[in-house]
Amino acid sequence: MEKMTVAEARSPDAAGRSIRLQGWIRTRRDSKGGFSFLELNDGSSLENIQIVADGSLANYESEIRRLSAGSSVTVEGELKQSPAKGQATEVQAARITVHGWSDPESYALQKKRHSFEFLRTLAHLRPRTNTFGAIARVRNQVCRSIHEFFQQEGFLYVHPPIITASDCEGAGEMFKVTTFNLAEVPKQAGQVDFTQDFFDRPSYLTVSGQLEAEIFACALGKVYTFGPTFRAENSNTSRHLAEFWMVEPEMAFYELTDNMDLAESFLKRIVGDVLDRCVDDMQFFNSRIDNTVLETLADVAEQQFERLPYTEAIELLKQSGESFEFPVEWGKDLQAEHERYLTEKKIKRPVILFDYPAAIKPFYMRVNDDGRTVRAMDVLVPKVGEIIGGSQREERLDVVSDRMQQQGLNADDYWWYLDLRRYGTVPHSGFGLGLERVIQFVTGMANIRDCVPFPRTPGSAEF
Ligand code: 4AD
Ligand code: MG
Repeated sequence: MEKMTVAEARSPDAAGRSIRLQGWIRTRRDSKGGFSFLELNDGSSLENIQIVADGSLANYESEIRRLSAGSSVTVEGELKQSPAKGQATEVQAARITVHGWSDPESYALQKKRHSFEFLRTLAHLRPRTNTFGAIARVRNQVCRSIHEFFQQEGFLYVHPPIITASDCEGAGEMFKVTTFNLAEVPKQAGQVDFTQDFFDRPSYLTVSGQLEAEIFACALGKVYTFGPTFRAENSNTSRHLAEFWMVEPEMAFYELTDNMDLAESFLKRIVGDVLDRCVDDMQFFNSRIDNTVLETLADVAEQQFERLPYTEAIELLKQSGESFEFPVEWGKDLQAEHERYLTEKKIKRPVILFDYPAAIKPFYMRVNDDGRTVRAMDVLVPKVGEIIGGSQREERLDVVSDRMQQQGLNADDYWWYLDLRRYGTVPHSGFGLGLERVIQFVTGMANIRDCVPFPRTPGSAEF
């Protein structure tokens, strides 16, 4: 007797084998002929396998006819070719052992369709549904592609700290880390005395591993980080999480166009792999969630991304004749509605916008000769908008010091960052890709809270 997954057992050439399967019942149907059909799922695939349970099984009346959605079982039997449509194989059960019952009166996952909002309140059960099982498998595949891509390209995987004293994005959206008793915070001359705190200074959860990735890129060439990042932005949108995963490659001797080339081939690789390796799950998303998703992904995998300077994008938006909620003006950041107009209506494929106004971008981006724009790039995709943000880094000590000052940062706190410019400085570049934004893009899910196992958003941290 061979232990198999449902995915393996569904393969036509597995027929004839004597097997053991373990998983959870999705449905039971009793036939008038005195036997039952069970649908078994074990998470290995979107699809279930059909189990034929004959009335002659010892526990047929006492147990099998009481099985319901969510019960867990071990099934032993012979894998046969199935006469039914839509499945190559089925199992003729010789023995079914019940591990755990699931009371249909109280089990929250009923057979009807539940809204995604409702399922968010059941984050401990939603992985048992088709949609969330499929998202988990696609998320796993995307993570695999991320590592495979960078490893094949010769990048070194490095690990920046999660607790940090510096605000990489300069946006002040950081969660504080402290061991102070908040009812009695030590003060010195009216100010909080952080010298008495655990780290001797104010410290935070990181918003990005970029600054530390730069340290390693400036020693080892090509590196990437991949881990959780945190932002205390109080925005209740369908694209923002307070805790999300980011992958951040950082490359010495890369200029902005090299960075764009890498970002484009990286995204194409992720999308191509998902299409190749998650066939059933992607069919499911296309038929149940968003019927344009397969076509959109196939286009992304093939078509060249448009590359457009920010200034030209502003012109296109001004000439669009659209009535946007947020005004379009040179010097302002683009809003989701603007990004969507460019990718969905005007250009109809991914767009890399570059050379943004210096005033709306962080201190570390390289200043262009015009003095008012920086070597920033954002990759925008249909529906999701910004999926990647990156730049060429400012490698000139005097320029980056000035930019820090302009943005109100204390250069002394960043002495180590400035040392990279003092000793053997090099042109270098990198970007950050938000994992959940990619999952949202490839699955077509409308809300990013459904693209992470346990969403962290304002007012919500259960599970
Ligand atoms: O554009 P961002 O803020 O760039 C950085 O953090 C740079 N340090 C990256 C780098 O150059 N190494 O964030 C990068 C990406 C965004 O494009 C988006 O995909 C994602 O991270 N992201 C979020 N995803 C979910 N929820 C949020 N609140 C996000 N904020 C950014
Ligand atoms: Mg950004």
